[in-house]
Amino acid sequence: MTDKKIVLKESDIPKQWYNIVPDLPHPIPPFIEAETGQPGVGIVPKIFPKAIIGQEISQERWIDIPDEVRDVYKIWRPSPLFRALNLEKALKTPAKIYYKYEGVSPPGSHKANSAVPQAYYNMKEGITRVTTETGAGQWGSALSFAAGMFGLEATVYMVRASFDQKPYRKAMMNAFGAECVASPSNKTEAGKRILAEDPDSKGSLGIAISEAVEDSLESEKTGKKANYTIGSVFNHVCMHQTVAGLEAQKQFAMVDDYPDEIYGCIGGGSSFSGLFWPFYYDKVSKKAPKETNFFAVEPTACPKVTRGYYTYDHGDTAKLTPLVPMHTLGHDFMPAPIHAGGLRYHGIAPTISVMSQEKQLSTIAVNQVDAFDAAKIFTRSEGIIPAPEAAHAIKAVCDEARQCAKTNTQKTILFALTGHGFFDMTAYEEYFNGRLQPYEYPAEKVAESMKKLRALYPWLNEVTTKYIG
Ligand SMILES: Cc1ncc(COP(=O)(O)O)c(C=O)c1O
Repeated sequence: MTDKKIVLKESDIPKQWYNIVPDLPHPIPPFIEAETGQPGVGIVPKIFPKAIIGQEISQERWIDIPDEVRDVYKIWRPSPLFRALNLEKALKTPAKIYYKYEGVSPPGSHKANSAVPQAYYNMKEGITRVTTETGAGQWGSALSFAAGMFGLEATVYMVRASFDQKPYRKAMMNAFGAECVASPSNKTEAGKRILAEDPDSKGSLGIAISEAVEDSLESEKTGKKANYTIGSVFNHVCMHQTVAGLEAQKQFAMVDDYPDEIYGCIGGGSSFSGLFWPFYYDKVSKKAPKETNFFAVEPTACPKVTRGYYTYDHGDTAKLTPLVPMHTLGHDFMPAPIHAGGLRYHGIAPTISVMSQEKQLSTIAVNQVDAFDAAKIFTRSEGIIPAPEAAHAIKAVCDEARQCAKTNTQKTILFALTGHGFFDMTAYEEYFNGRLQPYEYPAEKVAESMKKLRALYPWLNEVTTKYIG
């Protein structure tokens, strides 16, 4: 009989993270400082601990996971790999579908995989408070949990739209001991500026990042330095997430199988990276038994890779961060209020942009109604209510599995089930009441933002051509 759940022992928790940087098809272009138009990292050294900066720029392929971090990982890791037998039946597909389920972590998603080491390294360097932003609330909950594990205070700026839609996320952060503030807020200059322009602003991740970064920078003056922590995009975050892919490799070996295709949703790209990077390493080191293909799935409401420009842009709305080489919709991107899922960040991990440019991965855009349709099939067959973010990947997987049924192909498909959707029931309710719409972000809006970006930095095209090509 085929096992439904493939489980590892605590001793199987990886002892090292995998860093893709030395194996990329070409190096990641440098960050650029807005003031000079020259390579530089701007405020980065002021807001992160040294250990994290070291990891961010590391060329090492394998980086040790501290024992203290592995001890906290033991609360939920190794996470199970499920064979989606009932989904396969529901789709009448010969494909074998597997999912790596990260919803078993205390905050309910993969985000804890990076929150724990980030809190740990801050604690080790004597920091007593950390700040961050959160969109849908998963990263804020994870950071709150991790900060609590290492005795740190945490301040989380939560995008106003989600703060209002998901009050229990705030309660969860409070339960872990953190403060959760609706963004834009009056606590920061960036927040005040936005509220002065639009007192009813629903916020965005870009705005919330500006607030969390400003809080960290300003804390210097108080004598009690708070560091900023980031939930996605940066290399070190994607690297921390590789515990999922490394475990999945061991789990596939247990059932003598190997994925032909790997799918994951992309917000900033960390969970998908964490799952596929180790398999990419198999490929480049010629250990892979198959020519595995990788598929990143994004919402049509925030199509940064499929519709965005691969150029330089700020990571935040207030332009505090240096310019990052990535696909972007523009740092002034405002998510559509009707959009229910997360994945609403204007940019993407520079590693994903490099891989996409080099055609090492494909990107698919999915609308939210189709994503929730797929989530419904998944819930009713597999019995787990997926986070709306992960539902985007499920939609792409269902399409592929149906295609396999048509062509009678027995592909092995793996996807990241990044979290459960227990705090997203308002979105599910809207879906069941027929109020969700298949929103598509207009190409003209992207062009408009890019025009503004070029007006702001007349050297942008030149710098993009020089470093990105
Ligand atoms: C459940 C879940 N999955 C996926 C994502 C997307 O983030 P990333 O692309 O960094 O994994 C988020 C972001 O908040 C999330 O909460």
